Amino acid sequence: MSPIIRIDKIADHVGQEVTLQGWLQLKTGKGKLQFLRVRDGSGVIQAVIFKGNVSEEMFEAAKRLPIESSLVISGTVRADERAPGIPGGFELDVNALEVVQESAEYPIGLKEHGVEFLMDHRHLWLRSNRQWAIMRVRATIVKAIRDWLDNNGFTLVDTPILTPSAAEGTTTLFKTDFHGEDAFLAQTGQLYNEVNIFSVGRTYCFGPTFRAEKSKTRRHLQEFWMVEPEIAFCKLEELLEIEEQFVSYIVQTTLHERAAELKLLERDTSFLERIVPPFPRISYDEAVEMINRAAAAGATVPPNDEPVPAMEWGGDFGAPHETYIAGQFDRPVFVHHYPTAVKAFYMEPEPGRPEVCRSADLLAPEGYGEIIGGSERMSDPDVLLAAIDRHGLPREAYEWYVDLRRYGSTPHSGFGLGVERTVAWICGLDHIRETIAFPRMLNRLRP
Ligand code: 4AD
Ligand code: MG
Repeated sequence: MSPIIRIDKIADHVGQEVTLQGWLQLKTGKGKLQFLRVRDGSGVIQAVIFKGNVSEEMFEAAKRLPIESSLVISGTVRADERAPGIPGGFELDVNALEVVQESAEYPIGLKEHGVEFLMDHRHLWLRSNRQWAIMRVRATIVKAIRDWLDNNGFTLVDTPILTPSAAEGTTTLFKTDFHGEDAFLAQTGQLYNEVNIFSVGRTYCFGPTFRAEKSKTRRHLQEFWMVEPEIAFCKLEELLEIEEQFVSYIVQTTLHERAAELKLLERDTSFLERIVPPFPRISYDEAVEMINRAAAAGATVPPNDEPVPAMEWGGDFGAPHETYIAGQFDRPVFVHHYPTAVKAFYMEPEPGRPEVCRSADLLAPEGYGEIIGGSERMSDPDVLLAAIDRHGLPREAYEWYVDLRRYGSTPHSGFGLGVERTVAWICGLDHIRETIAFPRMLNRLRP
């Protein structure tokens, strides 16, 4: 048998005999020719079976073969500019075909299926070219995240998923039983990151995160992946510089390495090419003014021309507010200094103006919403204890966290980037459900 290769290496084998292992994605034929579109996980190629080149049985077998059958196929690689496929430009002239399993009738056809049907068949839907492309982009985003942090002095320290107390507010905790004691699935690794900076200076954790939010929006998952860097001796201004470098690297690396996948997704990459530092920065105060000016002028936001509602200072932004603000800029925009009252307990108050805190969210362009939440942390033990009391949190549970402010405290800052929202933005997806292989949403735990 000729050497087994993967389709993404096909260009190295023009004129040679090779063997491919994969699945039949589509079949057409006329007269003495059968065209099999075969996918192997690394790409897609059209295999051409000419009746004269194979046995009668083999030709008849190919003619009958249902889509999704697994097969091993051998032939000669031919370069042809017009040939469809991924990478495209190559065909296989088949001389042998072995059917590994003839597929049962495949439930996902070429016709349009409803979203719920596809989600119920997620275990099969993931084979489609579109889902394949999204998973490949996601993998590259994850690798770019790790590469940038590893190359910029950050040490990965994994943080626990089973935790005894809340960090981001008590309403969104998944409760579980830890041998008779209440425990919760982690909403964030941040408090543990703050421990770890005193050991490694710059750290990050990267893992699944759980939020029992009752929100059923196109941006919310119950289980999502978050990368959380934390930096010692770092104030808010420096944090934003780190974030814009980080996000730009992720976008540019993905553009470079996943051009074929982004093309398949029909992503307009001109929106992504301009993602380079610096990103615009506006204060929460300025954002509220912008929103109220827009509301007074009757502005609306895509995709449904929803009106931008007026808002009072002190409230959190709704989705149309975020979309409107982001729509005023062609790069991600930082909104900093939110009201202390709407943010988590650990954020450092602005000196001389404690009603706002040294926080910043990063809003993605084109209406993809908040992709980063971050802040400078409280570094004074008494200020922190007062905040813990104010939020009605039990002091005993946070004693160790306050300790960090007693033994060599320093200004420090960090942020969390949501992987799925980043994937949705970079791929140009209108719903977060396609950004992770097995989404966990308010109404979905299966498959
Ligand atoms: O703004 P969040 O809640 O920040 C934190 O958890 C901080 N402790 C991070 C830190 O400073 N170390 O979440 C950070 C990001 C959001 O900007 C968003 O991208 C994503 O996590 N995120 C979600 N993604 C999908 N579904 C949800 N329900 C999400 N909640 C947050
Ligand atoms: Mg947030």
